[in-house]
Amino acid sequence: MFSTKIAGIGHYVPERIVTNHELSKFMDTTDEWIQERTGIKERRYGKKHKETTTTMAAEAAQVAIKRAGIDKNDVDFIIFATLSPDYYFPGCGVLLQREMGITNSACGALDIRNQCSGFIYALSIADQFIKTGVYKNILVVGSEMHSMGLDFTTTGRNVTVIFGDGAGAAVLQASSVEGKGILTTKLHADGTHAEMLSFINPGCHGGYYDQELEKFGYPDVEFGGLFITQKMLDDHMTFPYMDGQFVFKLAVQKFPEVILEALNSVGLSKSDINMLIPHQANLRISQFVQRSLGLKDEQVWNNIQKYGNTTAASIPIALSEAWEAGKINEGDLVCLAAFGSGFTWGSAVIRW
Ligand code: UT7
Repeated sequence: MFSTKIAGIGHYVPERIVTNHELSKFMDTTDEWIQERTGIKERRYGKKHKETTTTMAAEAAQVAIKRAGIDKNDVDFIIFATLSPDYYFPGCGVLLQREMGITNSACGALDIRNQCSGFIYALSIADQFIKTGVYKNILVVGSEMHSMGLDFTTTGRNVTVIFGDGAGAAVLQASSVEGKGILTTKLHADGTHAEMLSFINPGCHGGYYDQELEKFGYPDVEFGGLFITQKMLDDHMTFPYMDGQFVFKLAVQKFPEVILEALNSVGLSKSDINMLIPHQANLRISQFVQRSLGLKDEQVWNNIQKYGNTTAASIPIALSEAWEAGKINEGDLVCLAAFGSGFTWGSAVIRW
């Protein structure tokens, strides 16, 4: 049995910076409100008609592949985490394979839809395949193009101001060094409150869901024409929805819980952490987690101020940045953790 190491990591963020002030031209919000509640100063938006979730992923993946010292055709499996795919189907995994010119058809491609915890889920899946010797080089990607699907009116302000675009990628390989690499991953889910942070229209549920009224509205047709209806569009129901306070309260509970669960399972404790990379949901959440684990500022990587919340991309972007900044070194204990829509949450403990 092998263990799994991160052989290369990379990230990409679009050039276009969108400040809080710029958003206040479209909706009733202020730089002060956004910074105070979330810590976000600015975010990046991809170039409309030029960049997509897939093209950004390819940029990040190229860096990760180069740093891993492999050829793109050495990749034998792609795992793509996103909530903002280019198409409803096929998934971004195959689009990435084509975009990068990976001609090896023995390379499988899997899309996973676990939103904020997508990268942790992807890492955990990859870890199982590497440990068992099924694959040698797995490309794990988290990429999001939120800017194409947000509501830029005041109705959508609580969600829209949070999200940003970007991509991160990692190449996973087997390591024969005892005690190195991914030591454990922990995955959790509870679908009880699935709609509390959701983007449900268009969809195959046959109607549209009014979160405020907590009910579905069904169009008067028996077959077809239900995936997207005029009513969904008229009622502003084709945008993400979030009950922010509900999500916040659960997040601050689940983050420390799942981090400690992972550490305990491998006989380590919070004092062993060199670098915590939390999913960048809200700076206030990360600060709460830092305090509850008793970590110093330099032990927690935060970049939400620059990029907003990039959901599945946030952990690999932060990991790549921290590594580039020389803050993750050989032998360090790195902990990744995420909580988000589903709800799904998870953590990973890695000996670098
Ligand atoms: O990554 C996935 C997981 N997601 C999260 O973890 C997000 C967790 N939640 C949060 O980060 C916070 O709940 C938010 C940042 C989304 C919102 O902050 P909040 O302090 O919970 O605000 P709120 O939703 O309770 O709204 C407070 C007020 C409301 O006005 P009234 O009803 O008090 O008059 C909102 O309408 O702030 C208003 N508001 C805004 N005002 C200016 C909501 N969004 C905005 C905005 N600008 N962008």
